[in-house]
Amino acid sequence: MESIIRVDGLAKHFSVRKHYKGRFAPLKNFFTREASTVKAVDDLNFEINPGELVGYLGPNGAGKSTTLKMLTGLLVPSHGEVRVSGFNPWKERKAYVRHIGAVFGQRTTLWWDLPVVESLELLKYVYHIPEARFRENLSHFIDLLELSPFLGTPVRALSLGQRMRADLCAALLHDPRLLFLDEPTIGLDVVAKERIRDFIKYLNQERKTTVILTTHDLADVQKLCQRIMIIDQGKLLFDGGLERLQERFGGKRQLIVDFAEHYPDVHVAQAQLKDYQNRRAIYEFDRRELSASELIGQVSSQFQIQDLTVREPDIEATIRNIYEKQLLKVPET
Ligand SMILES: Nc1ncnc2c1ncn2[C@@H]1O[C@H](COP(=O)(O)OP(=O)(O)O)[C@@H](O)[C@H]1O
Ligand SMILES: [Mg+2]
Repeated sequence: MESIIRVDGLAKHFSVRKHYKGRFAPLKNFFTREASTVKAVDDLNFEINPGELVGYLGPNGAGKSTTLKMLTGLLVPSHGEVRVSGFNPWKERKAYVRHIGAVFGQRTTLWWDLPVVESLELLKYVYHIPEARFRENLSHFIDLLELSPFLGTPVRALSLGQRMRADLCAALLHDPRLLFLDEPTIGLDVVAKERIRDFIKYLNQERKTTVILTTHDLADVQKLCQRIMIIDQGKLLFDGGLERLQERFGGKRQLIVDFAEHYPDVHVAQAQLKDYQNRRAIYEFDRRELSASELIGQVSSQFQIQDLTVREPDIEATIRNIYEKQLLKVPET
């Protein structure tokens, strides 16, 4: 399949002035113009295929927003090449933006003082959207995102969740094939987050929109992303599915068994018995050593089982584990 995004050797370096602290600092800061370089993004290479929904993850300051800004043409890279839908985002920005939608959680693209609906109407002219298509999309998105109650409200008076929904609608009225979302659920309550997730899922599944999203909410990742890219210090550290992430970095899995009768000893060879009371046993096992069905086979060959469940380590714990213990080492350069 022809990829829709192709990134080769992408880098963004910021030059920041050194700032001294302490005694004589004001003097030093006044007389020196020493600069140091922040490698916000450092030699990224990846491809994304049409229809993918990719979670772009990493700790604060990892370079996620900087990457998305380059992919959307808002920032010019220091090095490297980007092709998105055949465009160079920053050189052909004007034509390019008609093909993409972008929402950066921290700021709105809507007109601050206008009622939401007027802001949305203006986009018809900005993007030259045919009238019929515009009406169709608008009414559909008003439904899906439940915008009706605040269509007449000025953008500045919206709650964060309402504003995010309005921004999502604004980013999609021109039928972009690609959607870039930077922290779309940040600061929202559980219900608002869920609504936004459902909407992203709909776009990806029904409209086949390719989506890249950054988030700190791992429920977003669990519910939405087929593919995860993890970056830190501007470098790509992991690229793959949730399952592979769990395989490589996840904790142990658990098998919970309710026995049909009481057995004095329910130990089995390859799994660790963590708990056993009231006929319920919890075994822990490593997926690299044993499959769930092998373990179930072992247990059921010795005991009568009434019920069982396999519990996976959650992705939140897995990723936290990676960030905290720095399991993924940034390659030295
Ligand atoms: N305009 C800028 N000038 C200087 N440094 C910047 C600028 N934008 C981002 N950075 C730095 O680049 C790094 C990556 O930032 P960013 O892409 O915003 O990270 P993330 O979105 O993953 O939290 C950080 O160290 C940040 O301080
Ligand atoms: Mg960011």
